[in-house]
Amino acid sequence: MPGTIKPRYGQASPLPKNLIQEEHRVRPTSGLEFISSRHFPDEVQGDLIINNTIGFLGTKQHTMVDDPESAGYNSQFRQDLVISEDTNFRPVDMEFAPDGSLYLIDWHNVLVGHMQHNARDPLRDHVHGRIYRITYPSRPLVEPAKIVDASIDELLDNLKLPEYRSRYRTRRELRSRDKAEVLAKLSDWVDSLNKNDVRYEHHVLEALWVSWGLNQIDADLLRQLLNANDFRARAAAVKVLRYSGHQIPDQAELLVIAAQDDNPRVRLEAFVAGSWLEGESGLTVLEAAGQKPLDEWMQLPYEAALAHINGHNVGQDPLTKGSKTDLEGKERELFVKGEEIYKREGFCITCHQPDGNGLSASQFPPLAGVEWVTGNQERLIKITLKGIMGPIDVKGKTYPGQVPMTPFGGMLDDEEIAAVLTFVRNAFGNKAPAILPEKVKEVRNNIKDKEGFYSAEELLKEHPMN
Ligand code: HEC
Repeated sequence: MPGTIKPRYGQASPLPKNLIQEEHRVRPTSGLEFISSRHFPDEVQGDLIINNTIGFLGTKQHTMVDDPESAGYNSQFRQDLVISEDTNFRPVDMEFAPDGSLYLIDWHNVLVGHMQHNARDPLRDHVHGRIYRITYPSRPLVEPAKIVDASIDELLDNLKLPEYRSRYRTRRELRSRDKAEVLAKLSDWVDSLNKNDVRYEHHVLEALWVSWGLNQIDADLLRQLLNANDFRARAAAVKVLRYSGHQIPDQAELLVIAAQDDNPRVRLEAFVAGSWLEGESGLTVLEAAGQKPLDEWMQLPYEAALAHINGHNVGQDPLTKGSKTDLEGKERELFVKGEEIYKREGFCITCHQPDGNGLSASQFPPLAGVEWVTGNQERLIKITLKGIMGPIDVKGKTYPGQVPMTPFGGMLDDEEIAAVLTFVRNAFGNKAPAILPEKVKEVRNNIKDKEGFYSAEELLKEHPMN
């Protein structure tokens, strides 16, 4: 749900908080459905059922209820609805049928994966597969709704049915009917609804969706629902608004109002929608949402949406598009310049990695949280000018030192060395005084006659660790 903020090229948007209880998380899942059928007991209505095809082979069932305290839901594992011991069982889709029973497709195949197997692998099974039908024998089936060959009036009345799939199939049918005729009947149907019915706002929402399906959003219904009593109807209306800027001229203004709704779910929908608006209008929506508390569902997507609309990644400085720092003046300039140098191909990033954690299996030690980096300035400058090779202890691990570190003395001038070192001393969670070009100049001069790489042993003799 909050995962759909406008993404930034090459950047993963933050993942929403996980709904499913940890012990019951599975993958890869294919096919999920919400229980919505009078054929099944009242207490399971709204449960999420989810198939899985590797490891656990079957269908898990979880409760899914609105969390009144947050924008999200509360969910608890209820039961394994289906379990198979057949190792080729591949439940890949399911859907509630018109009679309220549940159909489940087993693709039954020995091969499964991301094309690790050739497309023409003879083990690809084109013959087997099953369709299961799950019923609740002590309860009656549902009388199938009339959809094919139904009149428009009959179809509209189907929108009151409790079964989601019947309403869904009805809306699809209505999309294929004559647009003008459906729209005319739709407004009469809405007028005829009983305003005291507890499901009144639900029915109006169905009508709004029908108009959306015909690509002619009913702006009056939309406005009515944006002010609905039920927050779920308001949240759903915001979702329609999100996609209808080409038909609703005051989309941005309406999103600003929704972004200040009393209910967190509505605010979440509003700022996620706002993240897609161009420039100022999107920013206004986000700022409106930011004036109210952001809960655990909203915090990360909000930060990312705000960064993206300002043209940078989360955690980046908006002005330089680089990492954030509280260094100032000349030191800040060094930091910004140093980040660019750090990230050049073949410079530090290639071995010490974007997060400064190195790659210990390849013998590249970390720079994050390391005294070699944040400690004595001269020692660090010497490493960088002349390179280092031979056994070294970094963060409690001994690196054998067969891989040498490139000497940068010939590639980078004093200012550039100062810059990249100021950066590594203040990135990846490190915090240490900047290194100034004058200091690099002094050290370079002191060691101008030194030949070859330093060793850790040699450096520690000259500058012991604290
Ligand atoms: C070709 C890979 C490579 C590149 C590029 C590289 N390093 Fe290193 N670096 C190493 C290796 C390998 C060691 C450990 C050498 C040893 O075992 O003695 C090391 C060690 C270090 C150390 C001391 C140990 C530690 O983890 O703190 C620092 C500081 C350091 N590098 C900083 C840098 C900086 C700054 C740059 C960019 C200007 C850079 N390195 C570029 C491979 C590299």
